[in-house]
Amino acid sequence: MQETLISVHDVGRRFHLGGETVHALAGVNLTINLGEIVLIEGKSGSGKTTLLNLMGGLDTPSEGRILYRGDDLAARSQREITRWRRTTVGFIFQSFALIDGLTALENVETAARIGGLAPKEATDRSREILARVGMSKRVDHRVAELSGGEQQRVALARGLVCRRELVFADEPTGELDHATGRTVLEILRSVVERRGMTICLTSHDPAVQSFADRVYRLEDGRLAEGESR
Ligand SMILES: Nc1ncnc2c1ncn2[C@@H]1O[C@H](COP(=O)(O)OP(=O)(O)O)[C@@H](O)[C@H]1O
Ligand SMILES: [Mg+2]
Repeated sequence: MQETLISVHDVGRRFHLGGETVHALAGVNLTINLGEIVLIEGKSGSGKTTLLNLMGGLDTPSEGRILYRGDDLAARSQREITRWRRTTVGFIFQSFALIDGLTALENVETAARIGGLAPKEATDRSREILARVGMSKRVDHRVAELSGGEQQRVALARGLVCRRELVFADEPTGELDHATGRTVLEILRSVVERRGMTICLTSHDPAVQSFADRVYRLEDGRLAEGESR
């Protein structure tokens, strides 16, 4: 019997821009089970980032409900949501969201400290995870000195440095060449297996499909029928 981690029920998200309403998501229903790698694929602008932000509690739906282990996220206070995000959920942002003035190592360490690790452990684990993503030689470089692909790997290390039940990865291979993208997906797969983690990632690259346990396809803010597996 599979354990459901997240369930999304009839979720919609509208944005108001000037006099216009953008329907970023409408009528979305999906589930993510414990231990799965779930891919949300779709073209640019189809609503992938919006959906991840909602499931990760960074944004709230205009309609519908999102349950985490059966509890409605909307019923939680902002404080509870923040705590839940810090202890349970990891984010690897499409925009990386790294701190430019800090080195690769410092960026990962900062996340490790926020996640509750003691200084020595934060440093050790940060070095270890940066090595796994092939960034050993760049740990003391500032973010601004790194290429897009290198920044993406630092963002990955930062999202994985603390043990989390669930990690959201928004286009984690978007800036990478095919071989490096493959390595990143293998790292994600190995942490799922070793730590019993759950991952929800997005991509607009069809090559990522075969990597996921299940796939949902977004088209203009709606899930395509019958294409998830
Ligand atoms: N904060 C926002 N304000 C207004 N429109 C937004 C906002 N965020 C997203 N959108 C719109 O919602 C749609 C989906 O965006 P997004 O979720 O970023 O798509 P994707 O990640 O698949 O490229 C787009 O039309 C985008 O312009
Ligand atoms: Mg996006």
